[in-house]
Amino acid sequence: FQKEKQTLHEAHDYSLKLYHYLLKNMEVAKLAREYLHSRGFNDALIEHFGIGYAPARWDTLTQALERKGYSLAEMEAGGLLSRRQDAEGYVDRFRDRVIFPIHDTSGNTIAFAGRLMSDGQPKYLNSPETPLFNKSRTLYRLHEARPAIRRARQVVLFEGYVDVIKAWSAGIHNGVATMGTALTGEHAAMLKRFADEVILCYDGDDAGQAAAHKSIPLLEEAGFRVRVSILPNRMDPDEYISSYGPEPFVREFIDGAVSAVKFQLIYLRKSHILLEEDGKIRYLRDAVRIVARKDSPTERELLLKELAQEFGVSLDTLKQESLEFRQQEKL
Ligand code: UTP
Ligand code: MN
Ligand code: MN
Ligand code: MN
Ligand code: MN
Repeated sequence: FQKEKQTLHEAHDYSLKLYHYLLKNMEVAKLAREYLHSRGFNDALIEHFGIGYAPARWDTLTQALERKGYSLAEMEAGGLLSRRQDAEGYVDRFRDRVIFPIHDTSGNTIAFAGRLMSDGQPKYLNSPETPLFNKSRTLYRLHEARPAIRRARQVVLFEGYVDVIKAWSAGIHNGVATMGTALTGEHAAMLKRFADEVILCYDGDDAGQAAAHKSIPLLEEAGFRVRVSILPNRMDPDEYISSYGPEPFVREFIDGAVSAVKFQLIYLRKSHILLEEDGKIRYLRDAVRIVARKDSPTERELLLKELAQEFGVSLDTLKQESLEFRQQEKL
């Protein structure tokens, strides 16, 4: 098994070099280079992140691996190749896609993500789960971000690979991303060794905000202090940095990330109609319930004060309601 893994590591290193070489040197990769440049990837970023290109053929990697003497069946099990549909044999898994290499915590290449350059599905094709690659235990760029995470005792979690890369170029060196899957307890446990605070910097759309909302309890149970960046709707960190530059991004969404409870109160507004009286009452009840779960009496009071002011009710009333929730939930 160790031997099999060793072979797959080498095959991934070799494939990475090939895809990267093709991107930089081949005429067929011209569109890919233009695509990357149009998205703000300069040559230094392409180099640093080992970005590559898989040509629109069935046999580029297959032939190269075969020439190197690799067993194609092993390469299929490693996620680099696919079984042919119509006949015996193997074909390239990644075709006509920009390739982002994915590493384990030691920096070994263990998988690839391939992005289409035009609209189509799936937008990203990732390696399947293999002996090397377990999505719920892999975080994109953790091998590189680890020292910065340790130093700051803080990690910034992004949704997308490109967000991590653009944030890195904006000076955020403690950023990582999941593999397009939900954050797991295993991810949280891995990060807890290096950090005490997580900033959730997900996309500004409903899916991103819902994912942040779901991740908060998981991270808090793992012992993290959590803050959340609330990006404009329809923008993700990459788009924001490309449109407005690194400084406002860092100021507004890293330094300016709000506490988890503030985020939960803002998120709760989406499901209530605050213009109507009973919508307002229901929102306040749900909001007070969220605040009531906070351990610190000072924090509870500050949050209740803000709610009291905004909705024109007395602080005493909200405190009373909060105490009732605490009794009910035996806090
Ligand atoms: P997004 O749809 O937000 O994509 O998915 P993105 O990261 O902004 O990608 P760009 O900027 O259009 O290139 C977030 C993440 O979800 C995973 C990927 O990890 C992606 O980075 N994903 C998305 C997939 O795995 N497959 C898909 O088809 C789409
Ligand atoms: Mn290079
Ligand atoms: Mn998204
Ligand atoms: Mn996105
Ligand atoms: Mn994006």
